Amino acid sequence: MNKVKTMAMAKDLVVDYPEVKYLDTTHILGKEYPVLVHKIDQIRDKNVPSSTFQTIVDEITTIELVEATRNFKLEEYEIETPICEMVGHRISGKKMVFAPIMRAGLGMAPAAKRLYPQSRIGHIGMYRDEETSRPVKYYWKMPKDIENRMVFVLDPMLATGGSADAAISELKHLGCKSIKFVGIIAAPQGIDVLQRNHPDVDIYVGAVDLGLNKDNYIVPGLGDAGDRIFGTK
Ligand code: PRP
Ligand code: URA
Repeated sequence: MNKVKTMAMAKDLVVDYPEVKYLDTTHILGKEYPVLVHKIDQIRDKNVPSSTFQTIVDEITTIELVEATRNFKLEEYEIETPICEMVGHRISGKKMVFAPIMRAGLGMAPAAKRLYPQSRIGHIGMYRDEETSRPVKYYWKMPKDIENRMVFVLDPMLATGGSADAAISELKHLGCKSIKFVGIIAAPQGIDVLQRNHPDVDIYVGAVDLGLNKDNYIVPGLGDAGDRIFGTK
């Protein structure tokens, strides 16, 4: 493979966008974890079957959520091992909600629930209008006391940023004060939009790609994440 030629071909597809300066609230996790780069590149391959794609999305989500929750405090509690009593530790008082943006975000929800079984799942139904690329909301269901919870918005793809921006704005409108975004691949444009509109929201993504093509798909990206997870193409 000619690496230079391949990169030039990808760059040719990208629509111009000014360079984005990443804030401290933006965490590009592939820079720290080679295993994430390895797994993300596996799912970019268009020949990967849907079942494998879903499994790898699950693995990536687990790793990213470990990082996104690394500052959680632990509280002590008493436990008894088969050998003796001891002071155990558990994550304290965190009322967590994982809020996947449908459909593709649903692929990240099982890993979140497995890692934090005590969490709730809120559903955000949103799709991008094919003509305008603007998000269209079609479903919304959150736990009743959402304003008192820490919300993790889940979506593998942050492209123009329109869907995540709309979802986070709606959560803020409901009174949420603690929101994080967890994605897998982002375009610089999507990060720019979230950084500008929601500087209080930490962004966790595995990779930031070159940009968007004329149809607002991430380049090189992985195509339509919803279709690839659910095998609808
Ligand atoms: C995809 C993706 C995001 C959105 C990202 O969903 O899962 O929600 O596009 O693009 P944006 O940053 O430009 O808003 P899509 O609209 O394709 O819906 P689907 O998951 O139901 O296929
Ligand atoms: N939605 C996707 O699923 N993929 C993209 O590249 C952009 C939006």
